[in-house]
Amino acid sequence: MGNDFACNVVVEMVVFIGDTHGSLTIDKLRKLKEECDSGVRHMTKKDFVLICGDFGLLWNYKWTGRHVDSNPKDQCWNEEEIALLEWYENCPWTTLVVLGNHENYDRWQTYPISEWHGGRVQKVSDSIIRLMNGEIYEIEGHTYFCMGGAMSTDRGYATGTEKYDIHKWWWPEEIPSSDEWENAYNHLDEADWKVDFIVTHDVPAYVMMQPELARLCYRASEMGNLLEMIRMNTDFIHWFCGHLHIDRHYGKVSVLYHDIVDVEDFLGENLWQF
Ligand SMILES: [Fe+2]
Repeated sequence: MGNDFACNVVVEMVVFIGDTHGSLTIDKLRKLKEECDSGVRHMTKKDFVLICGDFGLLWNYKWTGRHVDSNPKDQCWNEEEIALLEWYENCPWTTLVVLGNHENYDRWQTYPISEWHGGRVQKVSDSIIRLMNGEIYEIEGHTYFCMGGAMSTDRGYATGTEKYDIHKWWWPEEIPSSDEWENAYNHLDEADWKVDFIVTHDVPAYVMMQPELARLCYRASEMGNLLEMIRMNTDFIHWFCGHLHIDRHYGKVSVLYHDIVDVEDFLGENLWQF
Protein backbone atom coordinates (compact mmCIF):
# COMPACT_ATOMS: atom_id res chain seq x y z
CA MET A 1 0.00 0.00 0.00
CA GLY A 2 1.07 3.56 0.42
CA ASN A 3 3.22 4.88 -2.34
CA ASP A 4 3.94 1.61 -4.10
CA PHE A 5 2.79 1.77 -7.69
CA ALA A 6 3.73 -0.14 -10.77
CA CYS A 7 5.93 1.95 -13.03
CA ASN A 8 4.67 3.20 -16.37
CA VAL A 9 1.08 2.13 -15.81
CA VAL A 10 -0.90 3.37 -18.79
CA VAL A 11 -4.45 2.42 -17.77
CA GLU A 12 -6.59 5.22 -16.41
CA MET A 13 -6.47 5.28 -12.64
CA VAL A 14 -8.08 6.76 -9.57
CA VAL A 15 -5.92 7.41 -6.52
CA PHE A 16 -6.97 8.82 -3.15
CA ILE A 17 -5.22 11.15 -0.76
CA GLY A 18 -6.10 12.95 2.46
CA ASP A 19 -6.26 16.61 3.45
CA THR A 20 -4.10 19.11 1.56
CA HIS A 21 -5.15 22.41 3.26
CA GLY A 22 -4.28 24.62 0.32
CA SER A 23 -0.51 24.41 -0.01
CA LEU A 24 0.10 23.63 3.69
CA THR A 25 0.21 19.83 3.45
CA ILE A 26 0.65 19.29 -0.26
CA ASP A 27 4.12 17.72 -0.20
CA LYS A 28 2.63 14.31 -0.93
CA LEU A 29 1.16 15.62 -4.18
CA ARG A 30 4.35 17.47 -5.07
CA LYS A 31 6.14 14.12 -4.75
CA LEU A 32 3.56 12.49 -6.99
CA LYS A 33 4.03 15.21 -9.60
CA GLU A 34 7.81 14.81 -9.42
CA GLU A 35 7.39 11.09 -10.08
CA CYS A 36 5.30 11.93 -13.13
CA ASP A 37 7.74 14.59 -14.34
CA SER A 38 10.69 12.22 -14.00
CA GLY A 39 8.91 9.40 -15.82
CA VAL A 40 8.71 7.09 -12.82
CA ARG A 41 4.93 7.22 -13.12
CA HIS A 42 2.71 7.91 -16.10
CA MET A 43 -0.49 9.87 -15.53
CA THR A 44 -2.66 11.95 -17.85
CA LYS A 45 -5.66 14.22 -17.42
CA LYS A 46 -7.77 11.05 -17.84
CA ASP A 47 -6.41 9.86 -14.47
CA PHE A 48 -7.88 11.14 -11.22
CA VAL A 49 -6.43 12.17 -7.88
CA LEU A 50 -9.31 12.34 -5.41
CA ILE A 51 -8.70 14.47 -2.31
CA CYS A 52 -10.82 13.44 0.67
CA GLY A 53 -11.64 16.95 1.90
CA ASP A 54 -9.81 19.95 3.36
CA PHE A 55 -8.72 20.82 -0.18
CA GLY A 56 -8.37 24.47 0.80
CA LEU A 57 -7.69 25.95 -2.63
CA LEU A 58 -10.50 28.47 -2.03
CA TRP A 59 -9.65 29.81 1.43
CA ASN A 60 -8.91 33.54 1.39
CA TYR A 61 -11.95 35.56 2.51
CA LYS A 62 -10.78 39.07 1.64
CA TRP A 63 -11.87 40.71 -1.59
CA THR A 64 -8.88 41.23 -3.87
CA GLY A 65 -10.66 42.11 -7.09
CA ARG A 66 -8.96 39.19 -8.84
CA HIS A 67 -10.74 36.21 -10.31
CA VAL A 68 -10.07 33.26 -12.56
CA ASP A 69 -11.84 33.10 -15.89
CA SER A 70 -14.09 30.23 -14.83
CA ASN A 71 -15.85 32.32 -12.21
CA PRO A 72 -15.76 36.14 -12.40
CA LYS A 73 -17.95 36.25 -9.28
CA ASP A 74 -15.11 34.90 -7.14
CA GLN A 75 -12.90 37.94 -6.64
CA CYS A 76 -11.01 36.77 -3.57
CA TRP A 77 -8.14 35.03 -5.33
CA ASN A 78 -4.81 36.07 -3.82
CA GLU A 79 -1.32 35.48 -5.17
CA GLU A 80 -0.78 32.26 -3.22
CA GLU A 81 -4.05 30.77 -4.44
CA ILE A 82 -3.43 31.72 -8.05
CA ALA A 83 0.00 30.09 -7.87
CA LEU A 84 -1.56 26.96 -6.39
CA LEU A 85 -4.26 26.94 -9.06
CA GLU A 86 -1.60 27.11 -11.76
CA TRP A 87 0.31 24.30 -10.05
CA TYR A 88 -2.76 22.06 -10.12
CA GLU A 89 -3.40 22.99 -13.74
CA ASN A 90 0.13 21.89 -14.60
CA CYS A 91 -0.29 18.52 -12.89
CA PRO A 92 -0.74 15.72 -15.39
CA TRP A 93 -3.87 14.38 -13.66
CA THR A 94 -7.39 15.69 -13.04
CA THR A 95 -8.02 16.63 -9.41
CA LEU A 96 -11.33 15.62 -7.84
CA VAL A 97 -12.28 16.83 -4.38
CA VAL A 98 -14.96 16.41 -1.78
CA LEU A 99 -14.96 19.39 0.53
CA GLY A 100 -14.04 19.30 4.19
CA ASN A 101 -14.10 21.95 6.89
CA HIS A 102 -10.99 23.81 5.68
CA GLU A 103 -12.81 25.44 2.76
CA ASN A 104 -14.29 28.86 2.05
CA TYR A 105 -17.89 27.86 1.44
CA ASP A 106 -18.93 31.44 0.66
CA ARG A 107 -16.70 31.28 -2.40
CA TRP A 108 -17.65 27.75 -3.38
CA GLN A 109 -21.28 28.80 -3.44
CA THR A 110 -20.53 31.23 -6.29
CA TYR A 111 -19.43 28.42 -8.61
CA PRO A 112 -22.01 27.10 -11.08
CA ILE A 113 -23.27 23.53 -10.82
CA SER A 114 -22.99 21.20 -13.79
CA GLU A 115 -23.34 17.50 -14.54
CA TRP A 116 -20.34 15.18 -14.67
CA HIS A 117 -20.19 11.37 -14.74
CA GLY A 118 -23.79 11.06 -13.54
CA GLY A 119 -23.71 13.53 -10.66
CA ARG A 120 -23.61 17.24 -9.93
CA VAL A 121 -20.24 18.99 -9.69
CA GLN A 122 -18.69 22.42 -9.38
CA LYS A 123 -15.69 23.10 -11.59
CA VAL A 124 -12.90 25.52 -10.74
CA SER A 125 -11.49 24.40 -14.07
CA ASP A 126 -11.77 21.37 -16.34
CA SER A 127 -9.15 19.62 -14.21
CA ILE A 128 -10.21 20.76 -10.72
CA ILE A 129 -13.66 19.39 -9.97
CA ARG A 130 -15.67 19.32 -6.75
CA LEU A 131 -17.79 16.21 -6.19
CA MET A 132 -20.90 17.35 -4.32
CA ASN A 133 -22.59 16.03 -1.21
CA GLY A 134 -24.96 13.11 -1.64
CA GLU A 135 -24.09 12.49 -5.28
CA ILE A 136 -23.11 9.18 -6.89
CA TYR A 137 -20.70 9.21 -9.84
CA GLU A 138 -19.66 6.50 -12.24
CA ILE A 139 -15.93 6.66 -12.88
CA GLU A 140 -13.93 4.04 -14.75
CA GLY A 141 -16.74 1.53 -14.39
CA HIS A 142 -17.20 1.97 -10.64
CA THR A 143 -19.69 3.96 -8.60
CA TYR A 144 -18.61 6.50 -5.98
CA PHE A 145 -20.91 7.93 -3.32
CA CYS A 146 -19.58 11.24 -1.97
CA MET A 147 -20.35 13.15 1.21
CA GLY A 148 -17.98 15.93 2.22
CA GLY A 149 -18.01 18.11 5.31
CA ALA A 150 -17.09 17.91 8.98
CA MET A 151 -17.22 20.12 12.01
CA SER A 152 -14.20 22.43 12.14
CA THR A 153 -12.03 22.13 15.21
CA ASP A 154 -11.68 25.93 15.06
CA ARG A 155 -15.25 26.25 16.23
CA GLY A 156 -16.01 27.33 19.73
CA TYR A 157 -12.66 28.69 20.82
CA ALA A 158 -11.98 32.37 21.49
CA THR A 159 -15.28 33.42 19.99
CA GLY A 160 -15.16 37.02 18.92
CA THR A 161 -11.53 37.10 17.85
CA GLU A 162 -10.82 37.43 14.17
CA LYS A 163 -9.11 34.06 14.00
CA TYR A 164 -12.21 32.17 14.93
CA ASP A 165 -14.78 34.38 13.29
CA ILE A 166 -17.42 32.69 11.25
CA HIS A 167 -16.97 33.08 7.46
CA LYS A 168 -13.26 33.67 8.02
CA TRP A 169 -11.96 30.48 9.57
CA TRP A 170 -15.01 28.25 9.54
CA TRP A 171 -18.34 28.18 7.77
CA PRO A 172 -21.72 26.74 8.87
CA GLU A 173 -21.98 25.02 5.48
CA GLU A 174 -19.10 22.73 6.51
CA ILE A 175 -21.82 20.52 8.01
CA PRO A 176 -24.06 19.07 5.27
CA SER A 177 -27.58 20.49 5.34
CA SER A 178 -30.75 18.43 5.71
CA ASP A 179 -31.29 18.89 1.96
CA GLU A 180 -27.85 17.41 1.27
CA TRP A 181 -28.56 14.42 3.51
CA GLU A 182 -31.93 14.00 1.77
CA ASN A 183 -30.10 14.09 -1.55
CA ALA A 184 -27.78 11.38 -0.25
CA TYR A 185 -30.60 9.13 0.93
CA ASN A 186 -32.49 9.58 -2.35
CA HIS A 187 -29.45 8.61 -4.40
CA LEU A 188 -28.67 5.66 -2.15
CA ASP A 189 -32.30 4.56 -2.47
CA GLU A 190 -32.01 4.70 -6.25
CA ALA A 191 -28.80 2.66 -6.04
CA ASP A 192 -30.46 0.11 -3.73
CA TRP A 193 -27.88 1.15 -1.09
CA LYS A 194 -25.14 -0.50 -3.11
CA VAL A 195 -22.13 1.42 -4.42
CA ASP A 196 -18.54 0.46 -5.09
CA PHE A 197 -16.78 3.18 -3.11
CA ILE A 198 -17.68 5.79 -0.51
CA VAL A 199 -15.67 9.00 -0.23
CA THR A 200 -16.13 11.38 2.70
CA HIS A 201 -14.11 13.90 4.68
CA ASP A 202 -15.39 12.99 8.13
CA VAL A 203 -15.19 9.45 9.47
CA PRO A 204 -18.04 7.11 10.43
CA ALA A 205 -18.51 6.71 14.19
CA TYR A 206 -17.12 3.18 13.94
CA VAL A 207 -13.67 4.66 13.35
CA MET A 208 -13.84 6.83 16.45
CA MET A 209 -14.55 3.72 18.51
CA GLN A 210 -11.07 2.33 17.83
CA PRO A 211 -9.11 2.26 21.11
CA GLU A 212 -6.08 4.04 19.65
CA LEU A 213 -8.32 7.00 18.79
CA ALA A 214 -9.72 7.40 22.28
CA ARG A 215 -7.88 10.69 22.71
CA LEU A 216 -9.66 12.06 19.63
CA CYS A 217 -13.14 11.17 20.83
CA TYR A 218 -13.91 14.82 21.33
CA ARG A 219 -14.30 14.89 17.56
CA ALA A 220 -17.17 12.39 17.65
CA SER A 221 -20.08 14.12 16.01
CA GLU A 222 -23.63 13.84 14.83
CA MET A 223 -22.26 13.68 11.32
CA GLY A 224 -20.17 10.69 12.34
CA ASN A 225 -23.35 8.97 13.51
CA LEU A 226 -25.11 9.64 10.20
CA LEU A 227 -22.10 8.34 8.29
CA GLU A 228 -22.12 5.28 10.54
CA MET A 229 -25.75 4.64 9.58
CA ILE A 230 -24.70 4.76 5.93
CA ARG A 231 -21.79 2.40 6.66
CA MET A 232 -24.10 -0.07 8.38
CA ASN A 233 -26.74 -0.05 5.65
CA THR A 234 -24.73 0.23 2.43
CA ASP A 235 -23.14 -2.58 0.46
CA PHE A 236 -19.78 -1.16 -0.58
CA ILE A 237 -16.25 -2.32 -1.40
CA HIS A 238 -14.27 0.32 0.43
CA TRP A 239 -14.57 3.72 2.14
CA PHE A 240 -11.97 6.51 1.91
CA CYS A 241 -11.96 9.53 4.24
CA GLY A 242 -9.63 12.10 5.81
CA HIS A 243 -10.07 14.68 8.58
CA LEU A 244 -8.10 12.93 11.35
CA HIS A 245 -4.66 13.63 9.83
CA ILE A 246 -3.56 10.02 10.22
CA ASP A 247 -3.04 7.09 7.88
CA ARG A 248 -4.91 4.05 9.17
CA HIS A 249 -6.97 1.20 7.73
CA TYR A 250 -9.88 -0.02 9.86
CA GLY A 251 -11.48 -2.91 8.00
CA LYS A 252 -13.23 -1.47 4.97
CA VAL A 253 -12.53 2.14 6.02
CA SER A 254 -9.24 3.86 5.13
CA VAL A 255 -8.41 7.14 6.86
CA LEU A 256 -5.88 8.94 4.69
CA TYR A 257 -3.44 11.78 5.18
CA HIS A 258 0.04 11.30 3.71
CA ASP A 259 -0.52 7.98 1.98
CA ILE A 260 -1.65 7.82 -1.61
CA VAL A 261 -3.69 4.72 -2.34
CA ASP A 262 -4.83 3.29 -5.67
CA VAL A 263 -8.43 2.19 -6.02
CA GLU A 264 -7.21 -0.89 -7.90
CA ASP A 265 -5.63 -2.12 -4.66
CA PHE A 266 -9.12 -2.57 -3.25
CA LEU A 267 -10.58 -4.56 -6.11
CA GLY A 268 -10.34 -8.29 -6.63
CA GLU A 269 -9.28 -9.97 -3.45
CA ASN A 270 -11.01 -8.50 -0.41
CA LEU A 271 -7.78 -7.97 1.46
CA TRP A 272 -9.25 -5.13 3.47
CA GLN A 273 -12.56 -6.70 4.41
CA PHE A 274 -11.97 -8.13 7.84
FE1 LIG B 1 -7.68 18.73 7.83
